[in-house]
Amino acid sequence: MTEHIPVLLAEILSFLQSRPKVGKVLDCTLGLGGYSEAVLEAFPKVQVWGLDQDDEAIRIATDRLGAFDNRFHPIHGNFAEAAELAGNAAPFDAILFDLGVSNLQITEGYRGFSFQADGPLDMRMNRRSALTAESIVNNWTEKELSDIFWKYGEERYSRQIARGILRYRENTGKIETTGNLVAVIRETLPAPVQRKMGGHPARKIFQALRIAVNDELTALEQGLSGAFELVSPGAAVAVVSYHSLEDRIVKQYFREMQKEGRGIITTKRPLIPSDGEIERNYKARSAKLRLFVVTEPGKEAKKKW
Ligand SMILES: C[S@@+](CC[C@H](N)C(=O)[O-])C[C@H]1O[C@@H](n2cnc3c(N)ncnc32)[C@H](O)[C@@H]1O
Repeated sequence: MTEHIPVLLAEILSFLQSRPKVGKVLDCTLGLGGYSEAVLEAFPKVQVWGLDQDDEAIRIATDRLGAFDNRFHPIHGNFAEAAELAGNAAPFDAILFDLGVSNLQITEGYRGFSFQADGPLDMRMNRRSALTAESIVNNWTEKELSDIFWKYGEERYSRQIARGILRYRENTGKIETTGNLVAVIRETLPAPVQRKMGGHPARKIFQALRIAVNDELTALEQGLSGAFELVSPGAAVAVVSYHSLEDRIVKQYFREMQKEGRGIITTKRPLIPSDGEIERNYKARSAKLRLFVVTEPGKEAKKKW
C-alpha cells in the first residue's frame, strides 16, 4: 500500500493537547488517514469526521481506520462545502487542514500529478469532476495557459512554455500524457535555462495545472470560511500549507478572524518541520503550519499554547 508520512504531526497533536476539550474533530483533508489515526489514538473518546474529495483516499483511509469503528466518520466531498457536508456533526473542537496532494496521488502515475512518472494528464483529486489537465493543456489559449503558469506556478518562463505548448499543438497534435508534456517543456526551454532553474523544469507548470484543475485556492478560501462556521468556543484550527500562495491565504484569513474578535493567532510565525523531520520525510520541506484558537467567552485567549 502507498504510504504517506504525516507532516508536522507532533506539533498538531501537542496543539490539540493544549485545548480544554477535544471531543469532535473535523479532518478536512483525510488523505490516507495519518492525522485522523493519530488523533483517534491520542484521544480515546474523540470522534473524528474525515473529509476528502478523492474517493480512493476515502476508501484506503476508511479501511485503515476500521478498527476505530464508530469513532470515525468518512465524508466524500470538497472542503469548500465543509459547512454543508459536516454541519450536522458541528460544532467541532478542532478543525485540521493538510493541504495539497497525498503520496498516493503524487506517486501513482495513473493519477497524472507526477512529472516523474508517466501517465494520463489527469490531476483531478475528485475523479467525478469534469476538468482535467489534458483539457486545459489542449484547449486553453496561449494567454490563458501563460496566465495560470505565472499566477499559480510563479514560473518565470510561463510565456515561453505556453508558446511551446501551442506550437506543439499546431504542428504535432494533442498532448496526452505527463511524459509528453514534460518532453514539450524540455524541448521549449534552452538547456542553460533548464540548468539555471534549480529544480525539475516541469515542477512549477505541474503545480500550476494542479491548482487550476482542482480550483485549489478558491476551495481553500471557502473551506476556511466554512470551518469558522463549524467551530465550538475554544476550538483549535490548524492549517498546513505547502507553497506561498496557500500560506498567504491562510495568514490573511486568520488575521481577518482575529480582527473580527473570533479568536487569536497562536503562531506569529508559521511552524516549520525540523531538520530531522525533513531528513526523514523530504516531502515535508516546504510545509508551514499556522494555528488559531477560537474565542471562549469569559476566558482570556493566550498567544502561546
Ligand atoms: C496532504 S494530503 C493529507 C494527508 C493526511 N493528513 C495524512 O496524514 O494522511 C491532502 C489530501 O487532501 C485532499 N484534498 C485537497 N484539497 C481538497 C479539497 N478541496 N476538498 C477535499 N479534499 C481535498 C486530497 O485529495 C488529499 O487526499
